[in-house]
Amino acid sequence: MAILVLGGAGYIGSHTVYELIERGEDVIIVDNLETGHIEAVHEKAKFYKGDIRDRAFIDSVFEKEEVEAVIHFAANSLVGESMINPLKYYDNNLCGTKVLLESMVAHHIDKIVFSSTAATYGEPKSIPILETDATDPTNTYGETKLSMEKMFKWTSKAHDLRYVSLRYFNACGAHKSGVIGEAHAPETHLIPLILQVPNGQREAISIFGEDYETKDGTCVRDYIHVTDLAQAHILAVDYLRKGNESNIFNLGNGVGFTVKEVIDVAREVTGHPIPAKAEPRRAGDPAKLIASSEKAKEVLGWNPEYTSLEEIISSAWRWHQNHPNGFKQA
Ligand code: UFG
Repeated sequence: MAILVLGGAGYIGSHTVYELIERGEDVIIVDNLETGHIEAVHEKAKFYKGDIRDRAFIDSVFEKEEVEAVIHFAANSLVGESMINPLKYYDNNLCGTKVLLESMVAHHIDKIVFSSTAATYGEPKSIPILETDATDPTNTYGETKLSMEKMFKWTSKAHDLRYVSLRYFNACGAHKSGVIGEAHAPETHLIPLILQVPNGQREAISIFGEDYETKDGTCVRDYIHVTDLAQAHILAVDYLRKGNESNIFNLGNGVGFTVKEVIDVAREVTGHPIPAKAEPRRAGDPAKLIASSEKAKEVLGWNPEYTSLEEIISSAWRWHQNHPNGFKQA
């Protein structure tokens, strides 16, 4: 029996596939390659190019393959884009998941682990954020992920299907092999953008807002290594294999860093002065997001390995130095 990874050519999906294969699992990848990269597909995984909104396609995969569980990363995930083009997010994230669930129910596939996000919480009322805290997204992306969680919840009540939803905080870093890493076009995330400066691709990093109520006025985030996220997916599959009930877990390091602190660590790691310039706030950015991941540690036995930001940024730096243009040839 195999694990089907939807979006397995993307950033977090490809890192999860590498960990699954290292562990000896059979892996099948489905990706439409809209934002994923064929170069990120592990050579030992079976690959189908296709879209989860295509019912005939997804049915054909379940008919040809013996799928034990699904890990679902296939979604659009840019907050800014989701505000400009909300219906794209409803279509891919929500309608895609509806088609997927219909096909899973029809084929009696009863386990799914799913990428959710800290964006489901919106502006938090208290820190660290617990899974039981209120969810009130401030952007379409977070809203569609929350709606996907609800779709799983109600489907699991009506059908023989259990799910684990993993709410990631700020995913970053790259695989230890140096073969895969973060490659978004356009890039919007802080760490890869900072590293474009020492890589000679950008003059300076912009700091979006210095007037937040935080220790140095810049936004605080909880940065978590992509390999630690990948491990949590494997633990979540094991959790469902043992017959446990559907559940939701936060995934973060539980430590917050300001934008200025992240830039300082990148200066140390790269030995480059990395000039920074103040810019206005970016719309929709909460001041502070820090996870409580105690539940994932207790229930799943998750134990993040990359707890130092220096180590996380070093792994990202190795990848970006060797792949300044992502997966494209230099
Ligand atoms: N930032 C800058 N300059 C930049 C880019 C980012 O100052 O050039 C700041 C942002 O304003 C934010 C922090 O750096 O305060 C982190 O920004 P990212 O874009 O790297 O990440 P976000 O926190 O915005 O987004 C992440 C995930 C989303 C998720 C969101 C939850 O990438 O998928 O957390 O709020 F939705």
